[in-house]
Amino acid sequence: MRHCIYPGTFDPITYGHLDVLSRAAKLFDKVTVAVAESAGKAPLFTAEQRVEMITPNLVKWPHVTVTTFRGLLVEFCMAQKGDAIIRGLRALSDFEFEFNMALMNRHLEPKMETLFVMPNEQFSYTSSTLVKQVAKFGGDVKHFVPPNVAAALSRAFAPVRT
Ligand code: COA
Repeated sequence: MRHCIYPGTFDPITYGHLDVLSRAAKLFDKVTVAVAESAGKAPLFTAEQRVEMITPNLVKWPHVTVTTFRGLLVEFCMAQKGDAIIRGLRALSDFEFEFNMALMNRHLEPKMETLFVMPNEQFSYTSSTLVKQVAKFGGDVKHFVPPNVAAALSRAFAPVRT
């Protein structure tokens, strides 16, 4: 039974994240989406709201679940008996950050491997921050996020636009 952990802030989840997840779901018997509380990033949505937005988008993969974590990722992975951490590389610009993070995680926990997958190139410029910016000013985000996430963004930014 091979189990991977897909960590991130997911504030909010995008089709780019779901593309990475679809690849992980093909490769592993069990996948856990790990939503970092990431207080330092001052997320728009609470960790619970982010989980709520992710959950309906996982129904097609019965072996994929979502939960939150705080503290060190490798400690969470070991507690979950994960075999690997999966991360997406959208473009060359992701590489340096991901490389450093993977090496730091390996230093902290040599047993934990990090694997990288490349999402479809159509998502190479998608990020949660850009999606939030577009939504904040009333732009259409339906190409970047599932309908339930678009609706949550619209509700979150409604006071800003009135
Ligand atoms: N499609 C679309 N966007 C993507 C993407 C994809 N496939 N992959 C990443 N992104 C975007 C995210 O939306 C995010 O955008 P934002 O910065 O505008 O919010 C950005 O790329 C970075 O996201 P991600 O790669 O998921 O990083 P993160 O900062 O959200 O998560 C953690 C990083 C939580 C995994 C990491 O900080 C962590 O492990 N924290 C726990 C503490 C710890 O152990 N620290 C030591 C690690 S060395």
